[in-house]
Parts: sequence; C-alpha cells; structure tokens
Amino acid sequence: METQAEKIISTNGNMMAGDRPICPTLLKYYKEGDIQAKLDQVNTPEAVFLFNGLPRDVSMMLLGGFLTGAFAEQVPSWQEVVVDYFQNNSRIIPALTANPGTYTMLEKMYHFEPVEGVIDNYFLQSIAGGQALKNRYEAVTAQACKHVLEILQTTGSCYMIDLGSGPGRNGIDICRQHPEFNGNIKIDCVDIDPEAIVFGTKLVKEKNIKQVEFIPTSMTRLHKRYPGTVDYGIIIGVLCGLTRAERIGLLSIIRPYFKSGARLVAASLLETMAQKDLLCAYILRETTGWGLQYPPLGELKEVFEAAGWIYEGFFHEEPTRLYEIGIGVAP
Ligand SMILES: C[S@@+](CC[C@H](N)C(=O)[O-])C[C@H]1O[C@@H](n2cnc3c(N)ncnc32)[C@H](O)[C@@H]1O
Repeated sequence: METQAEKIISTNGNMMAGDRPICPTLLKYYKEGDIQAKLDQVNTPEAVFLFNGLPRDVSMMLLGGFLTGAFAEQVPSWQEVVVDYFQNNSRIIPALTANPGTYTMLEKMYHFEPVEGVIDNYFLQSIAGGQALKNRYEAVTAQACKHVLEILQTTGSCYMIDLGSGPGRNGIDICRQHPEFNGNIKIDCVDIDPEAIVFGTKLVKEKNIKQVEFIPTSMTRLHKRYPGTVDYGIIIGVLCGLTRAERIGLLSIIRPYFKSGARLVAASLLETMAQKDLLCAYILRETTGWGLQYPPLGELKEVFEAAGWIYEGFFHEEPTRLYEIGIGVAP
C-alpha cells in the first residue's frame, strides 16, 4: 500500500490538501497546555479585538472550545455556529478551506492586499499571521539576495528555482532589489495553482521583470527539466503542511535537481507557534480543517539529513521566530 509520503510525491496537485491526523505537538498544547497560558492568549489585543467583534454565541463557543482544547467535531453545533460564521465573514477562511496554503492568504498577510472585517483583521494582527509571515517573507528575500550574490561572484550566473512559489513574490523582490543581477540570474517559479501563475505573470509583466519564468508543473515532476542543473532554490510555505515523512520524501525527490554544493532554503513552522499563538493555530485547524505541523526546533536538520542533504544551518524570521528556515546543501 502506498504510504502517505509516497502519495505526496506522486501527486500532481496541492500537496498540502487532504486529511492528516492532528500534529502530535499541537495536540499536546490543545489538551495539556497550561490554562493560564491559554487565558493569556485570549487577552492579547488582537484576541480581544476578535472576541469582541464576533456575535456573542460564536465568541462564547470559540472561547470554550479553545480553552478546553475541543476538536470541531466534539462540540455540538460547532459547524453551524462557528464554522459557518467564519466561512461567511472572512475571505481568508473559505479560500484556505478550498485550497490549503493558498497564496491569496499570503497576499493579505504580506500587506499587498487590504483585508476587510474582524476575522481577517485579526489574522493580519496576529503573531502567526501578519507578523511572522511578513517577517518570513522579508527574511527569506534578504537571505536569498546574499546567497545569489555569493553564487554570482563565484560562477558569474545563477539558475534559481522557487518551489511552490505562488505568484513569485520572493523572486520578484530579488530582481527589483538587485537590478544588477539582471542577465546573470534566471528564476523559475514552480506552482500548480493556475490562479497564482496568471497573477504572477501579470505582476512580472507590470514590473517589466524578464528573469522570472512560471513553470505550471508539480514540483515533484521536474527531473527532466532540472537534471542536476540548479544553482539555488527556495521552498517556502510548503513544508509547514507536511508531516515529517512527507517532508523527507519531498526533499529526497527534489535533491537531484541541484548541482553539488547548491543550497536549498526551506521554511518550517515551529512548535513555538503552538506556544506563542495557539489561538491562531486552533482557529485555523478547527474552522478550515487545514492540518499544519509544528515540529520542534532541530527537526528540520534531521529531515534534511534523512533526505540526503548536508545541513548548513538555519535562521529565523526576526523578531517573531516562529519558523526554522533551514539551509540545505546538495552533496
Ligand atoms: C503557502 S503558498 C507559498 C507561496 C510562496 N512560496 C510564499 O511563501 O509566498 C504554497 C504554494 O505551494 C503550491 N503547491 C502546492 N503543491 C504543489 C505542487 N505539488 N507543486 C508545485 N506547487 C505546489 C501552492 O499552489 C501554493 O501556491
């Protein structure tokens, strides 16, 4: 029988879609979490803003579910009271339910697109939402610029891939921040979401960027296109939805795309999000069913190494530090 990891690797579609059992780390915080820590989280300015802005029955049911660590299916009427309200009064929640990990949520969290309403404004203000995601986006672009510069100084050209790129925001930023890279850098943005490709193509045209190309193919199906020819890669916002076995499977399958010595930068959510912003983790899982993973710091190193990579180290998005952003080197 095909394992879950094999299923991911053989997929042509969104690898974050589909049911997974709750991440064991998240379960621990749901069920065994310190009640005072949970009470502190419902008293943050953004949580108060949310609870005060919801109808009373929705607010009370959400609060009760969060404090007791109840799953959606354990609370009578949760679907009709909480889920239906969140689905009907947010643009982020229905989009994530239909397409887990959709780039459209990131456009809002990166502040490119304004948000409306209490729920989406709550996400924008929350540590795990608008804060950490924007910090991650900026930290990855800054690190990638440094890495690309090193490659250009050593070899004179850089073939970069962004796996699960969405509309290619990181690649676009790299080109805009460093016009002097032009002509020496080529960035392939790989994504299976046709909407992301259409939107990204429009963005690069508007900004007159010639170095970015969109590749509408599953990132697991590119062995012919990249037979060990890639100098540099990033994979951001993808591993967060995959289990440890799935991550190892994916990092193994994409390793042959890279030249020996090439770096791959990969972001992974950390247990820290379950500690610092359990409310956001709870709302996401219990209103959309999207099963994010919250491994401890250091697991990404094990995952890279199990997939045959050398682990050079990691950095965080500052100052939120909810992500381990690892740097693997192809052997
Ligand atoms: C959360 S978004 C991240 C976008 C971008 N990397 C960022 O950080 O702003 C994840 C992206 O992965 C894409 N994706 C999911 N499965 C994929 C697959 N099998 N091949 C290529 N892209 C995939 C989704 O369509 C989505 O655009």
